[in-house]
Amino acid sequence: MKHPANDVRGKKSEKLKGKTIVIGITGSIAAVETVKICRELIRHGAKIVPVMSKNACEIIHPYAIEFATGMKPILELTGKIEHVLYCGEREEKANLFLISPCTANTLSKIALGIDDTPVTTFATTAIGSKIPVMVVPAMHKSMYEHPFITENIKKLKEKGIHILQPRIEEGKAKIADNEEIVENVIRILGKNDLRNKRILIIGGATSEFIDDVRVITNLSSGKMAIALAKTAYERGGDVKMWYDKDALPYVSTKKFTSHKDLLKFVDEERKYDIIINCAAISDFTPKKRKGKIPSGEKMDLHLLPVPRINPLLKKIGNIVIGFKLEVKEKGIEERAYERLKKDSLDFIVANTTKSIGSDYMKAWIIDKDKNVIIIKGKKEEIAEKIFDCIA
Ligand SMILES: Cc1cc2nc3c(=O)[nH]c(=O)nc-3n(C[C@H](O)[C@H](O)[C@H](O)COP(=O)(O)O)c2cc1C
Repeated sequence: MKHPANDVRGKKSEKLKGKTIVIGITGSIAAVETVKICRELIRHGAKIVPVMSKNACEIIHPYAIEFATGMKPILELTGKIEHVLYCGEREEKANLFLISPCTANTLSKIALGIDDTPVTTFATTAIGSKIPVMVVPAMHKSMYEHPFITENIKKLKEKGIHILQPRIEEGKAKIADNEEIVENVIRILGKNDLRNKRILIIGGATSEFIDDVRVITNLSSGKMAIALAKTAYERGGDVKMWYDKDALPYVSTKKFTSHKDLLKFVDEERKYDIIINCAAISDFTPKKRKGKIPSGEKMDLHLLPVPRINPLLKKIGNIVIGFKLEVKEKGIEERAYERLKKDSLDFIVANTTKSIGSDYMKAWIIDKDKNVIIIKGKKEEIAEKIFDCIA
């Protein structure tokens, strides 16, 4: 009989379909997050095999892990030689050994090749049979800053083990966000066709200052930029963002407010392999007044045109992709192609105002030879298609 945990398999995506992930759980308080992490990995299609240290069982009950994964956790090694079964040199071996959370104790033992718990024995076996291993440390800041721990983390990195840096907060080296852990699993097990590519995604809306407190802005939600950055990250890219608010915790982001900020960023930046600009950038800016214009006064806004950002991006990007928003579908391809030529773009993605704020989009992806791909779907699907065109 199938465990109900299987009911959620693939509900979000099939990105981890057919992948077996062994999760090693150790005695950190962050073990309480494991239920959610396992469920999320299953929602992306993965099969999860849980392994727990004795100390992990004192923090979270094995029933909770069985509930989350649909499988009784491995708590000891038996005559079945579970470590070899899942992580040995076998055809059906797991695709990834994820240790989340990983204590200072387990991390150091792995670095020294010591195995005296089910989790450390799985690690030794996985490393020996070249299964990718991802370690997600969680501990007190004082433990994290112990020079031997620092050295051991370095050692693991040098041996090709993926370490997900903790967040230093409230005197603790807190485990990375659940979303970041799941995204990194997808990245490690993904197609990696954007590996070593420097990718910049520009998204969100500009706000142009009328006075010190008022702005003119637009309704862009920034969802397309998030979908593009996520997709590029999952496909192995070295992703950066310019965005109007906080973006993804695992993508380094420069925040902008106005068109002027973007002009400054262009001057500061190094070369990218790919730049995709789907930001809604103002074409005009008011002549800004100092302070706050008094309420109740009649006011005329004098708007001045500003230089377009897209043509400038060619200075810092090999492949530059712009977006063009239109009200009507009729004639959209021609108008978008004219813009592609004017802005010296490599591709342009035309779409209509219906996509503003929505999770869905109908897009016309047009290249320099005027080839057009029309695609309708979730913004993540559009993002995948755009990268398929250039990867
Ligand atoms: C409530 C509680 C929380 C703990 N949290 C952590 C932690 O976040 N990180 C850590 O390295 N150790 C933590 N420890 C200490 C470990 O459980 C201890 O070092 C243990 O030997 C780890 O064994 P294991 O790595 O085999 O699970 C915690 C202990 C307790 C009782």
